[in-house]
Amino acid sequence: MAGRIAHQSFANKVMSAAEAAALVHPGASIGFSGFTGAGYPKEFPVALAQRITEARGRGEDFTIRMFTGASTAPELDGALAETGGVSFRAPYQSDPIMRAMINKGVTEYADVHLSHSAKLMNMGFFGKLDFAVVEATAITSDGELVPSSSVGANRTYLDNAEKIIVEVNSWQTEDLYGMHDIYYGMQIIPRRGAIPINHPGDIVGQKTLRVDPEKVVAVIETDAPDRNTPFKPLDSDSRAIAAHLLDFFDLEVKAGRMPQSLWPLQSGVGNIANAVLAGLMDSHFEHMTSYTEVIQDGMIDLIDAGKIDVASATAFSLSPDAAHKMNETAKNYHGKIILRPQDVSNHPEVIRRQFVIACNGMIEADIYGNVNSTHVMGTRMMNGIGGSGDFSRNAGYSIFVSPSVAKGGNISAIVPMVSHHDHTEHDVMVIITEQGLADLRGLAPRKRVKLIIENCAHPSYREALWDYYNEGLRVSNGIHTPHVLPKALSWHQRFLEGGSMRPPKPKAAEPVAEKAEPVAEQS
Ligand code: COA
Repeated sequence: MAGRIAHQSFANKVMSAAEAAALVHPGASIGFSGFTGAGYPKEFPVALAQRITEARGRGEDFTIRMFTGASTAPELDGALAETGGVSFRAPYQSDPIMRAMINKGVTEYADVHLSHSAKLMNMGFFGKLDFAVVEATAITSDGELVPSSSVGANRTYLDNAEKIIVEVNSWQTEDLYGMHDIYYGMQIIPRRGAIPINHPGDIVGQKTLRVDPEKVVAVIETDAPDRNTPFKPLDSDSRAIAAHLLDFFDLEVKAGRMPQSLWPLQSGVGNIANAVLAGLMDSHFEHMTSYTEVIQDGMIDLIDAGKIDVASATAFSLSPDAAHKMNETAKNYHGKIILRPQDVSNHPEVIRRQFVIACNGMIEADIYGNVNSTHVMGTRMMNGIGGSGDFSRNAGYSIFVSPSVAKGGNISAIVPMVSHHDHTEHDVMVIITEQGLADLRGLAPRKRVKLIIENCAHPSYREALWDYYNEGLRVSNGIHTPHVLPKALSWHQRFLEGGSMRPPKPKAAEPVAEKAEPVAEQS
């Protein structure tokens, strides 16, 4: 391990995770590294969770406010959420315990665009940051940090925090050195120049993160793997969605709107996104590139197959098998994978300039093309908006994908009105389900309805969607965007009350009762 900490002032501060956790005061604000299960501190959060649990067990009011790059892993989000002592959390998360705490109202949650979190922190909207707790692969002799498997918001937290704790994780391969591009030109100043990225492979920053050694209060040595959840095996729905997307790419190439190598691809988180990447493996597209947020297994396969030349992101999001393999072969990916801070990987200017193809999962879309990515039944937080807004608003193509039904068919992904708006009709160009694809570009709202219902909705919900729309037309007299407002969220209400969005079956006609003799009125 000595070789990994090549700066004496850092080596002097090595201590156990429990000793480091003892430095944290109740009420502290902590910015953690970590993005989609990669590059998060492994031991400190568990030790801090233990400290919080003990303090709360003694009746002390010990809470913390926590920030990360995005979602992390059970040792971080899970362990701290379980204490009931996380009073505030931002931005994206996907841990089941943290989600439960947010939905119980124990933890306040600010769901911000991932390109915005650095700016909000730099401007002071999240308050003072007491600690940055950041995983590194190594500390250089110049006292800079070699990031590990994610960059996320590390630069922002290291710059803003009063005190810094570094976990040096020897499980992360030292061959990651050279894979990061840390851009330091994001200051908010008049006449700020453009971020000079014109292609996913462009290098504009430095290999390491700057740290003020005076601020470092603890260094913890760890040797533990990143913990990502394995992806679900590809099913027929995700394969069908991928096939529709590839047909669409073909049409766009033929129409001269896309080059044969496509525009740089962004692929969201989740199982469907991974399936889309797998679909590209069997496609005839070559020399593709990617300007995205996370590198999933499917992206590595595409690089290995020579289909993708270069991929830019802010983090890995690999299954355990793929993460182990990356640790053995990281050197082969230098120049092919570039990990940047999330305010650069998700920067609107760079996304717009490169005409990125954004493809993200959704919870539901409505008959006009508005999309909900975050709230189940309009109220329960799922994960968060992540980078889906950064990409979809600024992409050359913004595509949303989902199976047409969820929960065994009891939920339709196409509804009369979305129960929460993340991506308005203005930011949604194409919707794809296993049923088909709706290309909404250039269409007025009423023209979109037919495409969305007929091409994307599950057949078992189409008639009810038409009934809703036709009633809207009747009651509104052909208005711009017809709705039946009292019924607009009735599908969600029906699910909450009866466990299914399916319309009630019309009652069978009651047998006509024999006409009773009129009873003489008693006087
Ligand atoms: N109502 C209720 N639950 C729904 C639902 C709906 N309309 N649609 C999906 N779900 C549930 C699924 O049943 C599944 O639940 P389970 O985990 O209990 O099986 C879960 O949501 C995930 O759905 P799945 O169909 O497997 O899709 P996914 O893994 O692709 O995730 C999102 C879909 C929307 C949750 C995910 O894409 C997301 O968090 N997006 C927002 C952030 C984002 O887009 N980031 C990328 C930017 S780079």
